Amino acid sequence: MNEPTNATTESTPIMIRLRTETRPDHDAVESVGYQAALVEGRLPRAAYVASLGQLLHIHQRLEDALVRHADDCPPIASVVQPHQFQVGNLRADLEHFGVTDMNADPLPATATFVSEIDAIASDRPVALLGPQYVLEGSKNGGKFLASRVRAMYELEGRDGTRYLDPYGEAQRDRWNAFRDAMNTLALPESDDVAVIDASRLTFRRITEMYSELFERLVGEA
Ligand code: HEM
Repeated sequence: MNEPTNATTESTPIMIRLRTETRPDHDAVESVGYQAALVEGRLPRAAYVASLGQLLHIHQRLEDALVRHADDCPPIASVVQPHQFQVGNLRADLEHFGVTDMNADPLPATATFVSEIDAIASDRPVALLGPQYVLEGSKNGGKFLASRVRAMYELEGRDGTRYLDPYGEAQRDRWNAFRDAMNTLALPESDDVAVIDASRLTFRRITEMYSELFERLVGEA
């Protein structure tokens, strides 16, 4: 017997849709010059430190918005947990590298993205779960990237890699918990689409940010 044609879309868990529909965006961010240099162990330390400063702007704005909307947007309250927040880890990493000015000049892509986060927060707060998915998901590859960074800059323990590898051994369990919380939401289709669109925008802006940073500091795109 044939199922109604819209049954698959309506019943596909959002985390499956996010993984499938953002795969090209993940491929793009993974292959920017910055990431290739990091994986190959030849990323200048200044570029790594500068990326933390850019990510601080993004996380600051996103995490402020998530906290602000936890009361009026139940899906945010059920998915977002304080341990997911990265502002403290970014500050600790920057401090480890001797950075005292936590307000680096935002690159064009960073400046654009933080205003887009503001727009999402005021137009459709539930879509903030898109950027949160991308940044929480980035901790999966981050664990491997942290091991490269430790070797490259001769770091000990968690120093300088708290952002990339915040969960240590709890990584798999925390990702599974995030996935389950997202899938339990069962949002209306229009909200699912808004979350997916916002996650694709996040990948795009972060890809641009890394490209701009690498071009300025390393001289390649
Ligand atoms: C060279 C850099 C990177 C590598 C090698 C890498 C690698 C990985 C790996 C191995 C996974 C886990 C796949 C699985 O267990 O199914 C993953 C997942 C993920 N990564 Fe990356 N990653 C990189 C950069 C990034 C960046 C910069 C972001 C975001 C800004 C990102 C976002 C994500 C997301 C959202 C997921 C979860 C995908 C899902 O829904 O299952 N990754 N990555």
